[in-house]
Amino acid sequence: MDMKLRSISEADVRGKRVLLRADFNVPLKDGQVADDFRIRAALPTIRWLLEHGARVGACSHLGRPKGKRVEELRLAPVAKRLSQLLGREVPQLSDCIGDEVKKAIEGLSEGEIVLLENVRFHPGEEENDPDFARKLAAPFDLYVNDAFGTAHRAHASTEGVARLLPAYAGFLLAREVEVLSGITENPRRPYYVLVGGKKAKDKLGVLTDLLPKVDGFLIGGGVAFTFLSAQGKDVGSSIVDEELVPTVRELMTEAKAQGTEIWLPVDVVVARELSQAAETKVVPADAIPEGWMGLDIGPETVQAFTRVLKEAGTVVWAGPMGAFEYAPFSKGTEDIAKALSESQAFTVVGGGETGEAVVKLGLEKGFSHLSTGGGATLAFLRGKPMPALEPLRAE
Ligand code: 3PG
Repeated sequence: MDMKLRSISEADVRGKRVLLRADFNVPLKDGQVADDFRIRAALPTIRWLLEHGARVGACSHLGRPKGKRVEELRLAPVAKRLSQLLGREVPQLSDCIGDEVKKAIEGLSEGEIVLLENVRFHPGEEENDPDFARKLAAPFDLYVNDAFGTAHRAHASTEGVARLLPAYAGFLLAREVEVLSGITENPRRPYYVLVGGKKAKDKLGVLTDLLPKVDGFLIGGGVAFTFLSAQGKDVGSSIVDEELVPTVRELMTEAKAQGTEIWLPVDVVVARELSQAAETKVVPADAIPEGWMGLDIGPETVQAFTRVLKEAGTVVWAGPMGAFEYAPFSKGTEDIAKALSESQAFTVVGGGETGEAVVKLGLEKGFSHLSTGGGATLAFLRGKPMPALEPLRAE
């Protein structure tokens, strides 16, 4: 996707009332932000706006409240974390449209910021309702989109408002688009995609669309068991999406015809239950005993995947190699993260759980790019429409 976007660095924001769409859809635990990666990633744009005298109303969605007010999905924990990171109070408003917002924005001095409430508390957000978009835009002079993680959604705060106000891309959004465009247009070869995660369903469309673009897939996580099962292997009680088996077989046949490699686990860590105290053993991937399930890739697979990844020019990684949030099943993800962080390849991590794992391991610096998008990153690489980017295109 060749895409030149209008950058905020071209905008005169001094004294202007700026609506900033960020992606503050972050995991929460006990009412606190559990992972602030996405908030930190938006800081360069926020700081730039404030330093250049903008009067900023930041907005975001959080979770999927389906058009209703859900107390646990208020943005207050984000306001708190953002205040800490900016070293200044970021007041939190109780809505994202209406008189309170108008007054608060009018009352801002140059270089001040407030956070609006979760845009998905209104059904008009996901419906991209023009009336809701008008209300959202009403108090503002300019719109800045820095929410790459939501760029594949045509919602009122990502697409609708961008057609109502002069619209610019923030630094994070621009960087994501630049990096992913580079991979789409001219990847360093061989280009491998490493997928994992729980659900084969989420990844199958990705693999199908990427098949003509890549040189190989490495498949771990829960996804691998549907592939192993499609090869006729006995996977015990591991998760298999039976419905997908015929499509997986077609994909494997097509890959073979095209000469695209698919590497699957050769050994796995199995247990009878998914728990912190589970008894585990390592078995060959085609000999999982009855009543046991595969919950991580095994050491031989780590070695085999590492050998392949060492030769790579580009690697995109989406999805952990096992149930890494449980200590007995975290090693595969950790070892692969380490191997990739030491690799010479151009390495990109698609956000979500995989990004979290990399940050938790302190390996961020070893990767070429940690994307803030999960679904958005994969949608971009697949060549899917990115509706939020369209109104930001430079003429
Ligand atoms: C994400 O977490 O991938 C983005 O914030 C988009 O969220 P959504 O899938 O609920 O639209």
